[in-house]
Amino acid sequence: MEQQFIMETATEDEVKDSEGESTMNKNIKEDIERMGEFFNKRADGYEEHMKETVEEFEKYYKAISHPIRKTEDKINILDLGCGTGLELEGIFSKVPNAQITGIDMSEEMIKKLKEKYENKLDNIKIIMDSYLTLPFENKNYDYVVACMTMHHFLKEEKIELYKKIREALKEGGKYIEGDYMVSKENEIEYLERYHEQINSLTEEERGLYHIDIPFAIETQKEILIEAGFKNIEIIWQVENKIIMVAEA
Ligand SMILES: C[S@@+](CC[C@H](N)C(=O)[O-])C[C@H]1O[C@@H](n2cnc3c(N)ncnc32)[C@H](O)[C@@H]1O
Repeated sequence: MEQQFIMETATEDEVKDSEGESTMNKNIKEDIERMGEFFNKRADGYEEHMKETVEEFEKYYKAISHPIRKTEDKINILDLGCGTGLELEGIFSKVPNAQITGIDMSEEMIKKLKEKYENKLDNIKIIMDSYLTLPFENKNYDYVVACMTMHHFLKEEKIELYKKIREALKEGGKYIEGDYMVSKENEIEYLERYHEQINSLTEEERGLYHIDIPFAIETQKEILIEAGFKNIEIIWQVENKIIMVAEA
């Protein structure tokens, strides 16, 4: 454990999303954007922003790779919502020959990743799509990683997604998730806000929006267990940023 968790004392206004913005005070419909469009606009300056807003940024992104065993083998790793690939540096430092499959729906974030890792592109296969709907290869991955990307989905959607992740992992494979989590009280407020925002849209306007629905640690654990994961461990807690590891 790197540092004690102090998120429970945060007030509504202090709760920040993974990109460091307060999401509780937004007006209905005012700021909601489709997921891909949001990150296309945010790609320039994304990493600088994360460096400023993720506490202990360097250590956090290194910690994502802590559960991954050091090896020269060509192990398979699936990176959901890979964005510009902030988590890949730590992963390649432990597994230089890793075969990464990165899924992301933002073309601009993917462009940045490809520029950054131009010398590693033989090790990285990028798929531009939504990991919610794209089928994964069953029993194919040693690890699945999802970093700062899972706080936009309802409980039921997450259970289905986590089942798909568990099936994509090899026997004994691990799922590593880094994200921000909130208190039970804030979880309810975010959820109510989400429903207000979604209900403000017409049927035709519905879709995948960049709206935060972070969960409390307990809820997150329940969802993972419901999806069939076991041995869930928290390996990082600094402010409201958490890294969880679960075994398939
Ligand atoms: C905050 S960024 C995180 C990027 C990277 N993992 C990191 O930690 O810096 C979230 C990423 O998830 C992607 N994303 C969100 N929902 C997605 C979905 N359903 N399918 C694919 N990508 C998604 C976004 O396009 C964005 O690049």
